[in-house]
Amino acid sequence: ALSTAPSAATTTMASEKASCGSVRGELCDLFRTALSVSYPDVAADPVVAPCGNAKNGDYQCNNAMALFGKLKGAPNAPKAPRDVANAILGALPANDLVSETSLAGPGFINIRLNKDFLSKRLSNMLVNGLAGWAPAGYIGKKVVIDFSSPNVAKEMHVGHLRSTIIGDTLCRIFEYSGADVLRLNHVGDWGTQFGMLIEHMADTRKARVAAGGEDKDADEDVSDLQELYRAAKKRFDDEEEFKTRAREAVTRLQSGDPVSLAAWQRICAASRREFEAIYSRLGVTLQERGESFYNPMLKGVVDELKDAGVATIDDGATCVFVEGQSVPLIVQKSDGGFGYASTDMAALKHRLNEEKADWIVYVTDVGQSQHFELVFAAAKKAGWLVEGSGPKVSHVGFGLVLGEDGKRFRTRSGDLVRLVELLDEAKSRCAATLRERRVEAGEEVNEAEVEEAACAMGYGAVKYADLKNHRTTNYKFSFDDMLNLKGNTAVYLLYAHARIAGIVRKAEKDVYAAAATTPISLDHPKELELALHLCKLPEALEDAIAELAPNRVTDYLYDLSEKFNSFYVDCKVLGSEQEASRLLLCEATAVVMRKCFEMLGIKPLYRI
Ligand code: ARG
Repeated sequence: ALSTAPSAATTTMASEKASCGSVRGELCDLFRTALSVSYPDVAADPVVAPCGNAKNGDYQCNNAMALFGKLKGAPNAPKAPRDVANAILGALPANDLVSETSLAGPGFINIRLNKDFLSKRLSNMLVNGLAGWAPAGYIGKKVVIDFSSPNVAKEMHVGHLRSTIIGDTLCRIFEYSGADVLRLNHVGDWGTQFGMLIEHMADTRKARVAAGGEDKDADEDVSDLQELYRAAKKRFDDEEEFKTRAREAVTRLQSGDPVSLAAWQRICAASRREFEAIYSRLGVTLQERGESFYNPMLKGVVDELKDAGVATIDDGATCVFVEGQSVPLIVQKSDGGFGYASTDMAALKHRLNEEKADWIVYVTDVGQSQHFELVFAAAKKAGWLVEGSGPKVSHVGFGLVLGEDGKRFRTRSGDLVRLVELLDEAKSRCAATLRERRVEAGEEVNEAEVEEAACAMGYGAVKYADLKNHRTTNYKFSFDDMLNLKGNTAVYLLYAHARIAGIVRKAEKDVYAAAATTPISLDHPKELELALHLCKLPEALEDAIAELAPNRVTDYLYDLSEKFNSFYVDCKVLGSEQEASRLLLCEATAVVMRKCFEMLGIKPLYRI
């Protein structure tokens, strides 16, 4: 299925497979069987969801109503949706996860899970780890994720930061699910801007020589790339003669002139160092495969599109017109030059044919939605992609980052914000708070420990603040909000985790050894509620993949911390009669929280 905006309704690669990690998936399997036994002639996908109201049950199956509609008029048609629901229930295979079912409303089937099943699932998770809880259906699938993708010599701005953070989380979820993930950095490292940069650098060197300096490249030429870009752009706009030279330089570069290539490489290397500084702070890995990589393929791809009649000449430009779009995809400009779109067509082809991708995901701001719609439609027109079968492509669009004033996020001077400074500030604010706490508590300040915790909290806070919103919403960047100790922030959640780790530590018991022998009792309603939520981790991850929406994970994590708090208020752990069992629930919570942190690229802290 081709989709630019995947929704929960889109079937994922996983949906047809038997599930083992997710309770919802297992219920789906049971109801799939029940449906095919009770109504073998009607195709129906099981629709199972958590109950809106926990009083009615844990999950519900909603197939009866639609099925009743389909059966109307048929011989022996059921009289009411409730009859359909009863027939489905009658065909439900024997199992150990459902303890009770009931009918509600027109024909909803409410399902109560077996406590024993949940308890065993958690014990098993503690003993065997979380490997079996990953979303099913992705093992060995090749998933290409095109994210971050800043432009050389232009600033890497908050938009690229969003792409980096969202893309990394998507990669992590797919990786956990066993997919073979290719993390691609489609760096903007090719294009006409390099002509003016190279010429300006050459002029700077000449001026240096004229002033008595040495005739060789200097590091300072590329030490401030934004400044280089600004200066070169100004001359390009103001000086006719420079503009002409810049244009000639582009041609030289594109024809492979070694001097121009060397200058281009210096600029790229300097840019790369700046990008790397951000990636290493954030703990994000990426494989650089910039636009220049596809340069040798552009002509061939455009010729192929022309020969196949997919692309046509319009007003001198080579265009692919697609149905439903007011503008065509321009794969070759009237001056013969190739652009962003040509490169994306070549990249798509390469990812399909050479990388053998099953799913290609592009993470950029929503402003590029139309571009990707055109690229995907053009690829379909060319027969590279087929609607409903074969490899999938998705554009994961995201909204803007706003400043406290509600306008596009900029510094006071009006410049785009430098990302390194932003990350440094988040970290130093955390370090200050941590030191203060130590001093207040009369403890010694261990600088190495503060440094580690400040990185985890500061960078974690920036990531979490971004991920917790649905990606398409614009959000305000506020240090005060994201570093808040209370509420839905990474800082709060890191404290919550450290507190749970502290409880377990204080008990001085080997909980993992105990997990193999001590059953987890779920007699208290708060224990049960917590256990049920813990078992829903796989579902949160499945939804995150189906919708390509990382906020599914943050929502789940925040709910988990709330469920834990509410359990901890009502259920005494240390020193209680149920200590052994409740410690296991504490540890299971900590383990699941850590898995969420891992998916979000946040480093957990065990003591703060
Ligand atoms: N460099 C582009 C930008 O900064 C993003 C590239 C996204 N990936 C792609 N295959 N077009 O807007």
